[in-house]
Amino acid sequence: MHFSSRLYVLVFIFAWNQMHVTDSAFSMVPAVLITLLLLFVMNALWRRAGKSSFPGPYYLLGLGPVLTYSRFIWTGIGTACNYYNTKYGNIVQVWIQGEETLILSNSSAVNHVLKSSNYTARFASKRGLRCIGMDERGVIFNSNLKLWKKVRTFFSKALSGPGLQKTVGVCVSATHRHLDQLSDFTDPSGQVDVLNLLRCIVVDISNRLFLRVPFNGQSACWILFTCLQQTRSLLLFICMFCSQEKELLMKIHRYFQTWQTVLIQPDLFLRIGWIYKKYEHDAKDLQEAMDGLIEKKRTEISTSEKLDDFDFATELIFAQNHGELTADDVRQCVLEMVIAAPDTLSISLFFMFVLLKQNPGVEDKIVQELDAVVGDRPVENGDMQSLKILESFINESMRFHPVVDFIMRRALEDDIIDGYKVAKGTNIILNIGRMHKTEFFAKPDEFSLENFEKHVPNRFFQPFGVGPRACVGRHVAMVMMKAVLVTMLSKYTVCPRLGCTLSTIRQTNNLSQQPVEDNDNCLSMRFIPRAMKTHTTPCGHE
Ligand code: HEM
Repeated sequence: MHFSSRLYVLVFIFAWNQMHVTDSAFSMVPAVLITLLLLFVMNALWRRAGKSSFPGPYYLLGLGPVLTYSRFIWTGIGTACNYYNTKYGNIVQVWIQGEETLILSNSSAVNHVLKSSNYTARFASKRGLRCIGMDERGVIFNSNLKLWKKVRTFFSKALSGPGLQKTVGVCVSATHRHLDQLSDFTDPSGQVDVLNLLRCIVVDISNRLFLRVPFNGQSACWILFTCLQQTRSLLLFICMFCSQEKELLMKIHRYFQTWQTVLIQPDLFLRIGWIYKKYEHDAKDLQEAMDGLIEKKRTEISTSEKLDDFDFATELIFAQNHGELTADDVRQCVLEMVIAAPDTLSISLFFMFVLLKQNPGVEDKIVQELDAVVGDRPVENGDMQSLKILESFINESMRFHPVVDFIMRRALEDDIIDGYKVAKGTNIILNIGRMHKTEFFAKPDEFSLENFEKHVPNRFFQPFGVGPRACVGRHVAMVMMKAVLVTMLSKYTVCPRLGCTLSTIRQTNNLSQQPVEDNDNCLSMRFIPRAMKTHTTPCGHE
């Protein structure tokens, strides 16, 4: 029997007893009043509980929404989703900011939402998004569908076709440039700050592909470099360049932290002026840096005699000149293109290095494949299809330890998902990380390339989503991960510190799953030059 109906029975028994233990009509009055009050409360509870047939925590006169929302704020969105799916199953209803929110982790429900045009909007705190410039701007959390469609075409164009063709060459060159400057990322004990190295590589790649503007001060360094070109000045150039690149990375990192902090914050909280201003200020740092880069790009466009190669930023600036986009739209699009990769791809690569050393047999296989397919030359576009073991490794890493663990959407119409009625306006979270561990795979809880030995149908593996609002950078992302890994692994074997494994590295899972960046030693690794290509050089931990 349902919990509320049991309570109804109890109330009835209580009323019956009261009427029989009292012997005067007068003394029955409080009993009747209490009974009526209890019936009223029970009725409200019953109606509320009956309204939704979804599994999940009880509404309990509003206590349920308070408790579920607190869990989301306290533990982070990803962690809370995993908790509720583990406790209540693959379809769960909770509340975020008092709004009904479904967490789905079975492939039929996830694919239904991903492929349907009923779910092309996302949910988040409007005030929070406004504070970081994402409300009805850019592409990632833009739920003004008309504007989202328009700007998404700019992203799609830049991330496919000729842009995609150029990616391998750019990745190889950017990775080499940073590996040549490895000492900039290495501490006196020989440990490399690998997460920041990867972020620098990835931001450099994004800049070369989509913006093509030297970061602040870089142009001055280029002049210095070409004039003096000898060893001491080269060192000076490298240091200046790196520090400016790192400064931009700090701003990206702060922006990301602010983004995940404000994303589902209570509106009331963000109405407090100084709190709102603080977050706005944290986001402004990066917005101003983007304004500076876009201004340089405008100058470059207006002074160049002939423009034959239109990159992402140029297309956006032209659209602004034709009145199709505002300056704020352009800035937000460029900003999102620049932050998309460091927040996802560099952290994915970081986890991959940890996984490689936890599975030395896999590293051996990858290195042998590199030797057979690529040999001593730099990796090329044509090699991408042939690197099958590397591809399985990347897929298995994204399945086993994803950076992007879930996808946020909002229902635009009433619908039925797996037999459940879903009302227009319902928030939806697709827990893809959990879906990847509960369905289809032979060894769901183990890291094993066997999981990708046979063909995996798309509906069981969606690390980038699918359908109209899928990751627009998914093809570029795969190419980038392959090209950066091949270039790094053909020169070095990367050794995490002894005892640093996926289960010991401290991590958070809020907007994405990532390592905690305090002075944790596990964030740095040793780069050992690979002695012979066909063999994995041991880490040689004492
Ligand atoms: C390992 C790397 C990456 C992973 C795992 C990843 C994953 C995702 C996921 C799951 C989504 C949400 C999809 C949905 O709602 O269905 C997304 C959205 C997006 N991703 Fe990626 N991504 C990665 C790399 C990139 C890169 C390199 C770029 C661009 C350079 C990019 C650009 C975007 C954009 C712009 C969106 C928002 C699309 C929209 O809302 O229309 N991503 N990504």
